[in-house]
Amino acid sequence: MKVLGGPASQLLGSRVAREIGCELAIVEFKQFPDGELYLRIAEELDGDTLIVQSTTTNNDIIYLLQLIDAASDGYLRVAIPYFGYARQDKRFKLGEPISARAIAKAIDADESYVVNIHDPASLDHFHLRNGKKAVNLSAAGLIGNYLKGMEFTSPLLIAPDEGATALVIDVSKAMGCEFDVLVKKRVTPERVEIQPKTVHVDARDVVIVDDMISTGGTMAEAIKLLRGQGARQVHVACIHPVLSLNAQLRLYRAGVDSIIATDTIEKTESVISVAPIIKKAVEGC
Ligand code: R5P
Repeated sequence: MKVLGGPASQLLGSRVAREIGCELAIVEFKQFPDGELYLRIAEELDGDTLIVQSTTTNNDIIYLLQLIDAASDGYLRVAIPYFGYARQDKRFKLGEPISARAIAKAIDADESYVVNIHDPASLDHFHLRNGKKAVNLSAAGLIGNYLKGMEFTSPLLIAPDEGATALVIDVSKAMGCEFDVLVKKRVTPERVEIQPKTVHVDARDVVIVDDMISTGGTMAEAIKLLRGQGARQVHVACIHPVLSLNAQLRLYRAGVDSIIATDTIEKTESVISVAPIIKKAVEGC
């Protein structure tokens, strides 16, 4: 099998190839002056291919479709560690598309894996060859194990909203510590309100865990609430560090001690690799 690391997942693609112990192919890519994208797999494939490409930007989606087309002969596995547009998984208003479905339908592969997709119901939108189902991998255990290796005083995990509860439960099981859940209301795409709640964090170290940090609005509000209630240290951890606009500034301004994330999106904060769970999925463990 050969691994194709797409433009958005060059590091993770390399790590997956190393984990599995197979060849990492060279992919060349560029943008034409009119904005169109070009991509070429610069070597022969062997009929068994794994593409690793997150879709954080619109260009990443085009590159993914080009990679799938270029590698379509033979058995094809497609790992989309961060599946963009997953939050538009419903028609919230009349006339809207289900964007997650539009993209999932375009994945022509034998197997496909995503990591902690926003809503696992989106997996039903994939139509893979031979009727196979797309698989949602969880990086919760990897985050829990990473946090277990950090030195904390009386640690407490926090879900910043009810949607993050299942993830926080899984991280707390791997880490072996308590958790609590906050309640959030989104006012605008950039602004959220967290309902006032007394959390007993006095002199404790807190890690707020969510599936993704986008504008940082959710985390910033949670950090302020917990700091205001006397937390000793406040860290944030997420699977997908989208970190759009001035998210890092918002988080540090709110008083975060560190930002911990996986490499589903390759950022400075991506200190945990999801390569082991992709390897397991490929090997069918
Ligand atoms: C929401 O449903 C997600 O789980 C995250 O809480 C949200 O996407 C984070 O977005 P932001 O960083 O912009 O508040």
